[in-house]
Amino acid sequence: MDTDQLVRVFTEYFEERGHRRITGSTLLPPPGDQVLFTTSGMHPLTPYLEGRPHPLGRRLVNLQRCLRTTDLDEVGDRTHLTVFEMLGSWSLGDYEGPQSLDWGYGLLTDGFGVDPGRLHVTVFGGDDRVGPDTGSLELWQDRGVPVELTVEDNWWSNGPTGPCGPDSEIFLWTGDTPPESTPTRDDRWVEVWNHVMMRHRRLDDGSLVPLPQRNVDTGLGLERLSSLLQGRSSVFECDVFDPWRRLLPPLWRLDEPSLRLVGDHLRSSVVVIGDGVRPSTTGRGYVLRRLVRRVLTVLRRDDPRRGLGDLPDELVRHTLDRFRQDVPTETVRQVLLDEERRFDRLLDRGRRLLSRPRFRGPLGEDDLHYLHDTHGLPRDLVLDLRSR
Ligand code: ALA
Repeated sequence: MDTDQLVRVFTEYFEERGHRRITGSTLLPPPGDQVLFTTSGMHPLTPYLEGRPHPLGRRLVNLQRCLRTTDLDEVGDRTHLTVFEMLGSWSLGDYEGPQSLDWGYGLLTDGFGVDPGRLHVTVFGGDDRVGPDTGSLELWQDRGVPVELTVEDNWWSNGPTGPCGPDSEIFLWTGDTPPESTPTRDDRWVEVWNHVMMRHRRLDDGSLVPLPQRNVDTGLGLERLSSLLQGRSSVFECDVFDPWRRLLPPLWRLDEPSLRLVGDHLRSSVVVIGDGVRPSTTGRGYVLRRLVRRVLTVLRRDDPRRGLGDLPDELVRHTLDRFRQDVPTETVRQVLLDEERRFDRLLDRGRRLLSRPRFRGPLGEDDLHYLHDTHGLPRDLVLDLRSR
């Protein structure tokens, strides 16, 4: 099943069960939101989870693009991407968690053909404020799926305050041996689908109050599930990365982790630019700047002549189309090339400064602060220049 089919099967499955499809938002949360980027499918739905009636009713389904900077250092492993798509389903004060899990189980096994013997789930075991999630536990026991109870790992929130609740996560076994151990003890169990019983709101003082309605919020990482269903060993090998895997290696010879990082960060940069962000020294623009600079640092490590001017147009086009962004490829290329030029000027300045007698010896914290505050040279860049 390719990624587009997967989206269709998911959406139709929920539509057949009374859900209305809503259009995903951009990566930019509405003004006033404390979070820089949309981090999950529920994020744009926050007011409706908090009780405002949604114009399309109480059952929704969609595909939402998300960006998680918390995962930046994990990019390059088998399962993490910076920008990814999330399939989601919602009950806004309608059906309860066990119904959602039952449908989830049905879709994974009957709809996507996952062997039920490769599933394991985790369920909230309860703490001193909220009791154990017995509804989920009983549903899974009924279906014969092994359950692991945890506390922190099974509590989901989108930030320090706001809607939150216990969740039940569904994992798929990816090992070559028959399934063994449990999700928290063996990372061959890969999380594919999270169902959050979103019934609480955390206030500024840390206390929990009930939301006006009992919701269910689910999220399934599209590229991750796609790669698992396609029998691939990492998210970078599912079909949405096919053009990247075809065009990048002949262009830049990179080891596998570097290829993954460059592919992920460039693809993410294209989507972020496609949503209107431009590189800057703060906020969203700074996240974009970091992504581009990380790519350039990796590319230039082996060959200083490498540059973003060589990035094939097809990859920019493919990404903009995948994320349904109506932006000319030339606009994206221009932003990337301007940023590259800025980075090159910074590198030149950095090299000149570091060759001064004052900086020849080991650099102290004072030097790093001075180089940053007075000359705009980020710490990572200085350390990187020194290590060459
Ligand atoms: N909002 C939940 C998540 O992102 C479903 O995992």
